[in-house]
Amino acid sequence: MSEWNSIAVRQEGAVGIIELARPHVLNALSRQMVAEIVAAVEAFDRDETVRVIVLTGRGRAFAAGADIQEMADDDPIRLEWLNQFADWDRLSIVKTPMIAAVNGLALGGGFELALSCDLIVASATAEFGFPEVNLGVMPGAGGTQRLTKLIGPKRALEWLWTGERLSAKEAHKLGIVTRVVSPELLMEETMRLAQRLAQQPPLALRLIKEAVQKAVDYPLYEGMQFERKNFYLLFASEDQKEGMAAFLEKRKPRFQGK
Ligand code: CAA
Repeated sequence: MSEWNSIAVRQEGAVGIIELARPHVLNALSRQMVAEIVAAVEAFDRDETVRVIVLTGRGRAFAAGADIQEMADDDPIRLEWLNQFADWDRLSIVKTPMIAAVNGLALGGGFELALSCDLIVASATAEFGFPEVNLGVMPGAGGTQRLTKLIGPKRALEWLWTGERLSAKEAHKLGIVTRVVSPELLMEETMRLAQRLAQQPPLALRLIKEAVQKAVDYPLYEGMQFERKNFYLLFASEDQKEGMAAFLEKRKPRFQGK
């Protein structure tokens, strides 16, 4: 997909930026929009010049959830045939580090999209929540699973049952968000972090990401075996030779992802 209708895509240095661009409906995630986001993320993931992917929203929302207009008349059989969450599943296997720069409301599918990213940087005015319960439904793109794994079942249940919103500050306290910044500095701070990560050895970043993801699902021993294999694998890279030689020669390393 090279023409985008619902998103704007650009690259700044080694950072690929995807902006959700349907502000008139608070970036409600239509199926077309999700397909575009996933296609853009996958294109960046295959591009060796892109070391970090940033997702953000245009206007006052990051994304106010799945497009309610589009799904109001759905039935289970149509949903089964659409298999729309397959697009979301593809986000879970992206290897490039992904940062969500949450500029405003991140609700329902919007919160799920942010949770699909590896790190969340939030504007101080951002709010997070799962209001699906108020529509008589529940999250369907991983929200019950990802939130529970992050903050535990009791706290997750309270937010999922009440549909209440968390402020950026509360989300930070719960470990959902790693940085909260003033709204006008959101992109500047996110890009600073992205560019910092883009200087790091990309293979190490990818294998660390994979190992941390395993830590969430694997028992400790299996997770440690997985970690060890990735550790060994990195010794096949030129970046390992360069990183250690640079240390010993007291100079700055230059990592190339090889
Ligand atoms: N789907 C479709 N349209 C949406 C939308 C959504 N999720 N969220 C907002 N919009 C539209 C509104 O209909 C409105 O359009 P019009 O101007 O044409 O009427 C426009 O965006 C602006 O929204 P509001 O006028 O409602 O703005 P507000 O400031 O008064 O309220 C809000 C903001 C509280 C976020 C409110 O828009 C809202 O409650 N939105 C729905 C949030 C929601 O329930 N999200 C969960 C969706 S289900 C889901 O995501 C399932 C899943 O797991 C995949």
